[in-house]
Amino acid sequence: MERFLRREARDAPESGIVALLNHGRKSGADVMPLWVGEGDLPTPEFIARPAAEALLAGETFYTWQRGIPELREALARYYTRHFDRDFQPQEFIVTGSGMQAIQLALQATAGAGDEVVYLAPAWPNISAAVGIAGGIAVPVQLEHSAEDGWTLDVNRIEAAITPKTKALFINTPSNPTGWTADRQTLAQILDIARRKGVWIIADEIYALYHYAPSRAASFLDIMQSDDRILFVNTFSKNWAMTGWRVGWMKVHPDLQQTFENLVQYSTSGVPQFLQKGCVAALDEGDEFVAGQVARARNARDMVCEIISATGRTRLSPPQGAFYLFFAIDGIADTMAAAFDMVDNARVGLAPGSAFGPGGESFYRLCFNRRVDELEQAAERIAGWIKGN
Ligand SMILES: Cc1ncc(COP(=O)(O)O)c(C=O)c1O
Repeated sequence: MERFLRREARDAPESGIVALLNHGRKSGADVMPLWVGEGDLPTPEFIARPAAEALLAGETFYTWQRGIPELREALARYYTRHFDRDFQPQEFIVTGSGMQAIQLALQATAGAGDEVVYLAPAWPNISAAVGIAGGIAVPVQLEHSAEDGWTLDVNRIEAAITPKTKALFINTPSNPTGWTADRQTLAQILDIARRKGVWIIADEIYALYHYAPSRAASFLDIMQSDDRILFVNTFSKNWAMTGWRVGWMKVHPDLQQTFENLVQYSTSGVPQFLQKGCVAALDEGDEFVAGQVARARNARDMVCEIISATGRTRLSPPQGAFYLFFAIDGIADTMAAAFDMVDNARVGLAPGSAFGPGGESFYRLCFNRRVDELEQAAERIAGWIKGN
């Protein structure tokens, strides 16, 4: 039966993260779930309540394809606050998740046979989405060293571009490595994109999860309004809303009709009652996000300390996002080891092989949760390392 499907659908890989998650679901409730990219808190009440009220008030009809005006206005206010210049509602399109924003950005820029360059190791959905669209995802590998952590040689991006390249997918701060581009690196990437005439798809969803006094550098800090950059983003991470499946794009206002059309021919819009909650997240959520980031910073430091005390790990504290991507010396098969850790250490990590080239010998640990629980999990991992 399957052979009658489109080749691109058949070839879509099973996510290595989900495979482990399914194994963990069978193993019982006491496995510490550090494998997926989400925290332990449910959505706060100040966000959930307006959504629940709107649902009960009957806001259950088809709605604006590009997003309700209140939410696009709230997005403009949020950006104006965080990126130190004025933004307009016309620059924003509401999408059904960050993942859908990525799909729409790809639909708009790269089709069958086109190449999209991305930085690896990477969140697997990026290359999979390019492949399903019929394109070819071309990895440029970040390098890892004990002294410098993860680094990018931008010349590798230029070398990876061919006449078929349509877009550069740049995720900073990065899932899974935590690599975070500084302004100068972003300027170099933008310069390459301008010279080569390719799009940038900027995934800066973790910009506020930056373990420095201010948010991570953004293409918004350096771009001109006519630069070909599509920003994809999500409510999932900042405001503990992973299950809501709402995201957005920031695009040039001239593109809003095109992206509205792409929304229309996919989901036809995001439920209006959910969007009411999203307005509250943007307008009232800064304090909540700052608290989450401070908690993640403490968690990061504690986990790094406990795991590196084994003397058997290679890791560098991530500069951004909320993942520790670490290797254990002397363990070759990370997928088998991750399964074994579920069974015997009761901790769920994502195997690095799920994150493509360069990730094979690593594990991803999500540290966006309560520090006391994480301490217990880190001790269990350290115990497992000592015993293997
Ligand atoms: C780098 C990156 N981009 C985009 C997303 C998409 O998030 P969502 O589909 O939950 O909105 C994720 C989620 O893990 C991510 O890590």
